[in-house]
Amino acid sequence: MIRPILKCGDPALHRPATIVESGPNDIQTLIDDMIETMYAASGIGLAAPQVGISLRVFVVDISFGQSPTDLIVMINPSFELQHDTQMEEEGCLSLPGFSARVTRPSHVVVEGLDRNRQPQQVEGRDLLARAMQHEIDHLDGTLFIDRLRGIKRDLIVRRISKLRRKGQW
Ligand code: NI
Repeated sequence: MIRPILKCGDPALHRPATIVESGPNDIQTLIDDMIETMYAASGIGLAAPQVGISLRVFVVDISFGQSPTDLIVMINPSFELQHDTQMEEEGCLSLPGFSARVTRPSHVVVEGLDRNRQPQQVEGRDLLARAMQHEIDHLDGTLFIDRLRGIKRDLIVRRISKLRRKGQW
């Protein structure tokens, strides 16, 4: 089921998400819905808080669904390595219409659990590294605009306020 994607300004996007505990709680439906929602929105990543669920789960697929082996489902991720630097244009499904150049490490290793709760390690460079870091940011309540310097961030925040006043956000 495609779920609505929350936009910047919704409190669920601006607070840290909770660790998924081991136990019987079934998050398979959530994961399936997140994958479907990400593909429907032509995104390369989606974090659970973006659909209003405050759990540390993200999905990433930099192939837009073209290559099944590129789909990553990650529960309770953490960084094993963050290395080197890249500065590229970045957008977000919770900030439709906005993008900016964001500096991030260009090589990461992320550790966590797969959808069957088996431990996994995923190494990513360039776009994949960027996508996974962007989604982990979401789990910490951070959007890419929070990584911009003052004036750039203020400009986007002001434009969103304007759209909100006009009922277009
Ligand atoms: Ni995002």
